[in-house]
Amino acid sequence: MKINFLTLFPNYYKPFKEESITKRAIQKGILEVNIVDFRKFATNKHNKVDDIVYGGGKGMLLMIEPIDKALKTMSGKKILLSPQGNIFSQEKALKFSKEKELTFIAGHYEGFDERIRKIIDEEISIGDYVLTGGEIPSMVIADAIVRLIPGVIQDESHKNDSFQNNLLDFPQYTRPREYKGMKVPKVLLNGNHIEIKKWRKQKQLEKTKLIRPDLLKGNKNEK
Ligand SMILES: C[S@@+](CC[C@H](N)C(=O)[O-])C[C@H]1O[C@@H](n2cnc3c(N)ncnc32)[C@H](O)[C@@H]1O
Repeated sequence: MKINFLTLFPNYYKPFKEESITKRAIQKGILEVNIVDFRKFATNKHNKVDDIVYGGGKGMLLMIEPIDKALKTMSGKKILLSPQGNIFSQEKALKFSKEKELTFIAGHYEGFDERIRKIIDEEISIGDYVLTGGEIPSMVIADAIVRLIPGVIQDESHKNDSFQNNLLDFPQYTRPREYKGMKVPKVLLNGNHIEIKKWRKQKQLEKTKLIRPDLLKGNKNEK
């Protein structure tokens, strides 16, 4: 997959490229990351990409033209980061993980000229709060997508992740067997894989019912 990040602050993406799983995906050749400073598509001599708001108001707005010009050089879905967009989800991550190329457009300042909404495919938010820029949201979304691309992590690792099958993940433990009186459940120590599987599914259902009952709506496992 190729991911293009359109930004005015390319340095934000350094850790995305240089750390952990996303770095390994790049090294394995599964992921290509292309960071584009859309200032270089500015059409004026001062490389200005923002301007004052018509009608008045504080702050600057990103102009449509440089972004439109930058997008013309890219293929695949064009995703605008915005607190006004549809809320991102695991389901969406899975859908996007099947794409060949994705472009994320990170805003800043007061956001974008409204007309940008005519030249993008989707507008996505990472939650009902306002951040300074779209760089962090774009990395949040790209990270969730990249780990679902086959070969990036072991398939087993995300099979039971929270939100797969509308359930939260089951409780997991590692050494020591007992810590300050808190013991690892016996069932996990007996090596009976059928029992362990049953216990894990039961705990997923219990936990989800308690913490996120909304997820169970339409969940086949509850029937
Ligand atoms: C300060 S915000 C602009 C907010 C805009 N004035 C509004 O209220 O809708 C600057 C940029 O940060 C990004 N951003 C902020 N909050 C976000 C969120 N919850 N999800 C995705 N992107 C966000 C967007 O790219 C946005 O254009």
